[in-house]
Amino acid sequence: MSATYLESLFSLRGRVALVSGASRGIGMAIARGLEKAGASVVGIGSSAAPAEAPTGNLSYERCDVVDNAGFRSLCEMLHRKHDGLHIYFHAAAISLTDGASTDADDNFDRTIDTNLKAAYHCCRTVSAYMERSGGGSIINVTSIGAVQGFPGNPGYVASKGGLRLLTKALALDLADKIRRLLADPDARRAMGQRGREKVLESFGIERVTDQIEAVYRGVLESPKPVT
Ligand SMILES: NC(=O)c1ccc[n+]([C@@H]2O[C@H](COP(=O)([O-])OP(=O)(O)OC[C@H]3O[C@@H](n4cnc5c(N)ncnc54)[C@H](OP(=O)(O)O)[C@@H]3O)[C@@H](O)[C@H]2O)c1
Repeated sequence: MSATYLESLFSLRGRVALVSGASRGIGMAIARGLEKAGASVVGIGSSAAPAEAPTGNLSYERCDVVDNAGFRSLCEMLHRKHDGLHIYFHAAAISLTDGASTDADDNFDRTIDTNLKAAYHCCRTVSAYMERSGGGSIINVTSIGAVQGFPGNPGYVASKGGLRLLTKALALDLADKIRRLLADPDARRAMGQRGREKVLESFGIERVTDQIEAVYRGVLESPKPVT
């Protein structure tokens, strides 16, 4: 298999991606990776500027994900400017240990607001623009804390556990609207035969080789959930 074939198979050229939590860390690395793969990428964070200056087809906008109206305006602007919105990575999150403030209840509320409630509203908002763009993929970044409890930061663990199941729930709710919704295999199994066919169709497998189709079918029909 030539590099050109693989590059074209996984190329994101012509795709428009939005990445929250892109002012630094994992979100910034994801934004750079998507840009390298050919997408036009807008990274967002609540800081005025990112830790490193954006280059190429990567730009940065200040936007607080807790501000639903502000996030919606940004999506509208992005959709108008690029004539589409196809990929959304939700990496924005806060992690306040109990020592961050003396008010543990306030820490809990702020963490749930940022990590879980904002993720829900962002997913709902981007899905409408993805629908207008002919389909899209939403990837929510969770944590090992989504499946295992840790001491000292109940809000973070609760928010990530909630985000994990929220993503599975939205995968089912949005499957008919978002052609390229990313769902994990056990959620796809829950969709039944019609849902599976829709996912296979969404990958455009009828346009690639039988071997690729077999790989996707293997993943979709794996008896072991991949989490
Ligand atoms: N690092 C790890 O080991 C690890 C492990 C498991 C999961 N994760 C998850 O991976 C993701 C990224 O982690 P990281 O370590 O790269 O985090 P980080 O360095 O703390 O960066 C968090 C990002 O989220 C943004 N953010 C926070 N609140 C925001 C808001 N209200 N509106 C917009 N942006 C906001 C921050 O930007 P501003 O400061 O500019 O707002 C920053 O860009 C998070 O979801 C985290 O839970 C990380």
